[in-house]
Amino acid sequence: MANNNTVLIKIKRQNGPDSKSYWEEFEIPYRPGMNVISALMDIALNPTTRQGKATTPITYESNCLEEVCGSCAMRINGRVRMACSALIDNLEKPVRLEPLSKFPVVRDLTVDRSVLFENLKRVKAWVPIDGSYDLGSGPRLLPEDQEAAYPLSRCISCCCCMEACPQFNESTGFVGAATISQVRLFNTHPTGKALKRERLSALMGDGGIHECGYAQNCVEVCPKDIPLTRSISEVGREVMKQAIGDLFRK
Ligand code: SF4
Ligand code: SF4
Ligand code: FES
Repeated sequence: MANNNTVLIKIKRQNGPDSKSYWEEFEIPYRPGMNVISALMDIALNPTTRQGKATTPITYESNCLEEVCGSCAMRINGRVRMACSALIDNLEKPVRLEPLSKFPVVRDLTVDRSVLFENLKRVKAWVPIDGSYDLGSGPRLLPEDQEAAYPLSRCISCCCCMEACPQFNESTGFVGAATISQVRLFNTHPTGKALKRERLSALMGDGGIHECGYAQNCVEVCPKDIPLTRSISEVGREVMKQAIGDLFRK
């Protein structure tokens, strides 16, 4: 805190995708229980830097304010995390806010995370039903299968796992842990597994599962505690089985 009644926040800003980044400092009134999003809202109320210069409000994304929508991921004091659950009381001061570093900046703290959605399309991360006729209620899921699938279904597409992954970069084109975990989820679903073969094949080429170096950063930063490394091992085994089977089928 700048003093007991204020908090000092340094923000890495950028006016557009091709602009140069720069830092601005803000000193805002301290309130017990405030989080990074409420601090950004306070700045929006009075967008004036610590030095007294009028500036523009910070652009950022947020919606649910309870770690459900996945939109508020950013780097806070150098570590990727959700801004809505980052309490100012628990953060080292001054608080440093930066956009995710591995995604194109749209403006300030807002980045373009569409690569995740492209990756999910690549592996067909959905249950294939076309909705044109009544399929009935579908196969029953055993309670133990529901229990195994539930943690995987909690992914909020925040991209924290990709930001923290040393292998997720332009040179590898690696799809990242979230996508692999969704493959596991949809391949175990009784209707979803109709596309299992295609999903595993999609993870064999460039940027596929073999790019993972098993550093486990992903599982450390996932706000939903998704067992990502377990997903990577299980899907990796399945990919290997299918690849060997394909060799013998040739
Ligand atoms: S285990 Fe490591 S290399 Fe693999 S996805 Fe997670 S962070 Fe990336
Ligand atoms: S797996 Fe976890 S860290 Fe990765 S996108 Fe999903 S919720 Fe976010
Ligand atoms: S605002 Fe929805 S996850 Fe943070």
